Amino acid sequence: MSTERIALITGANKGIGFETARQLGQKGMTVLVGARDPAKGAEAVAELRKEGLDARPLTIDVSRSESIRKAAAEVAKEFDHLDVLINNAGIMIDDDDAKVSEQTLQTWRETFDTNFFGLIETTQAFLPLLRKSEAGRIVNLSSILGSITLHAQPGSPVYDNKVPAYNVSKSAVNAYTVQLAYELKDTQIKVNAAHPGWVKTELGGEGARLEVSEGATTSVQLATIGADGPNGAYKHNGEQIPW
Ligand SMILES: NC(=O)c1ccc[n+]([C@@H]2O[C@H](COP(=O)([O-])OP(=O)(O)OC[C@H]3O[C@@H](n4cnc5c(N)ncnc54)[C@H](OP(=O)(O)O)[C@@H]3O)[C@@H](O)[C@H]2O)c1
Repeated sequence: MSTERIALITGANKGIGFETARQLGQKGMTVLVGARDPAKGAEAVAELRKEGLDARPLTIDVSRSESIRKAAAEVAKEFDHLDVLINNAGIMIDDDDAKVSEQTLQTWRETFDTNFFGLIETTQAFLPLLRKSEAGRIVNLSSILGSITLHAQPGSPVYDNKVPAYNVSKSAVNAYTVQLAYELKDTQIKVNAAHPGWVKTELGGEGARLEVSEGATTSVQLATIGADGPNGAYKHNGEQIPW
């Protein structure tokens, strides 16, 4: 097996994913820059390569089975293992004006297709390669908005922030993380959920508190934890978030 350390980040053409690719690249990893639009992926890769990083494009739309399957086959052809999978691609498409009870089923389904089912399908497709790593790490981008405990607690920082389809999709990501962590507990693979903080990206908006450079911290930490690191945790900057 080659000793090259390889990381795949989905939705890495911009935002937190792009910055995560940059920071993992700076740590000497080969970074596979996942993007659903090949042109945007190529642009992001060109920028990272200009910085001297070993970045390669990978077209992957996590809401399309065929695209995931093709991407996994492409990576398996090129590499004999994968060390890090960052399930970063995500969308927030809730209609701000709709009440929780009135959010359309189309919004629920579209959100879950990308944020939840896409994450599961991508994980399943790349698990065989992750199993060949000496220390596989899966990082699922959740959000503090996925915390059921905080949503049920009047006065908590997220109590009034009911973006239902997005929030529930991230709660589901948390639940899946715990289930998969149980299966993998006796292997060399660790799987954790990350809250990046409220970050200035297209999804986070301009009012967000963190710069993108800070928003990648938790993903990078969980991608690079040692054998004594957590498995099945829900973290922000090293701190456990209430489920
Ligand atoms: N920003 C925050 O404050 C914040 C807070 C908590 C959690 N998060 C989570 O962090 C992750 C990254 O968010 P961000 O803020 O960096 O958002 P962003 O700037 O909007 O970037 C999202 C990325 O996901 C990609 N994407 C969307 N749907 C996809 C699909 N079906 N297949 C593949 N890629 C897809 C986008 O590609 P296109 O460019 O083609 O659209 C883009 O590259 C998300 O999971 C988000 O929920 C963000």
